[in-house]
Amino acid sequence: MTLFSSPIGTLQLQRYPTTDDPSLQAWDAADSYLLQQLLQQPGWPAARRIGICNDRFGALSLATLQALAARPGELLSFSDSWLAQEALRRNAAANGYAADLVNGRLQLCDSLTEPDKELDIVLVKIPKSLAFLEDQLCRLRPALRADSLVLAGALCRHLAPGLNTVLEDCIGSCQASLAWKKARLFQARVSAAPRPVPTPTDYLLSPGGVRLRNHANLFSRTRLDSGSALLLQQLDQLPAATQVIDLACGNGVLGLLYAQRHPAARLLFIDESHMALASARLNATELCGCAAPHRFVAGDGLSDCAAASAELILCNPPFHQQHEVGDDTAWRMLRHSRRVLKKNGCLCLVGNRHLGYHSKLKRLFGNCQLLASDARFVVLLARKA
Ligand SMILES: C[S@@+](CC[C@H](N)C(=O)[O-])C[C@H]1O[C@@H](n2cnc3c(N)ncnc32)[C@H](O)[C@@H]1O
Repeated sequence: MTLFSSPIGTLQLQRYPTTDDPSLQAWDAADSYLLQQLLQQPGWPAARRIGICNDRFGALSLATLQALAARPGELLSFSDSWLAQEALRRNAAANGYAADLVNGRLQLCDSLTEPDKELDIVLVKIPKSLAFLEDQLCRLRPALRADSLVLAGALCRHLAPGLNTVLEDCIGSCQASLAWKKARLFQARVSAAPRPVPTPTDYLLSPGGVRLRNHANLFSRTRLDSGSALLLQQLDQLPAATQVIDLACGNGVLGLLYAQRHPAARLLFIDESHMALASARLNATELCGCAAPHRFVAGDGLSDCAAASAELILCNPPFHQQHEVGDDTAWRMLRHSRRVLKKNGCLCLVGNRHLGYHSKLKRLFGNCQLLASDARFVVLLARKA
């Protein structure tokens, strides 16, 4: 737990998934800066409906709820990340705000939701991907009045060139603040006309072959990832299975191509990104005619999967969580895979060769076969004895 002190009050916040790294806290200077500036807005005392985008662990949403305490009001917290929403649910409970979730004063909305009522003020934690920011702002813009305000902020090192243009095109005239504790804010006044939400991008897997569609916040949304491509070339070497999991599925490319070869396979697609799951469902409907035999679940890897419930797991694991690079999540996925696989079940994994997955899998499963490798990636198969 870290103590987050804002101009509004204090909160006990914990990251989710939890971490042993003491340098990682559940809030940053951009959260504090956004809250400071929120209180100084002339429109704040009358604001009743507040939107929050991309709150990572609940600092922005829960502090704003604290500030709304003495007046009627509701708060809509939009996020593409199931993990971020789970962090908010847990931190709401730990700080006495669980009832606000139940009574709708605090509403958790996924990244594909478009607000159906007006918003007075929107706080945006600027995401890594400007394509995703543009998508979010296009979804929000129809809910903004001429006097609504958008305050967007992030640590300076997370800001991408082109940010101003996105804010001005999607919302309207935009003013940048001075930097404060290495964070910067942008205040956008509503003047731009609403624009249609960008259509998902797509790419062809091979000339004349399968076309895959990708919502804005997708990993590798404009072309097939080279690691995934190497794994796909090994599909012939994989056992025929019915209960198959595409773990960290993204647009579903691994599971869907496997299912094309093995029509009896029933896939469980898992990802923590709502846009990833929406893309996988869209692609399943287009490739297989309907998504029905398959399931699409938002969650933290295999945490909610029953032991001995899968015959095959396909995985191109994440190597970062938002801005933090690391293999904690991937390592958890490998450990859980062993639990979730049936006897003789297999995990097929592609990863950067320098991450040493070969020795990790050997340690966990007692075996590990190299199916393919190139200068950057290895494709590995481990069998549960
Ligand atoms: C390297 S991408 C692979 C995507 C896809 N399988 C492919 O091959 O193109 C990793 C995916 O892991 C997802 N992810 C990250 N952390 C996760 C977690 N804790 N649980 C489930 N999915 C997660 C990301 O949203 C991303 O879609």
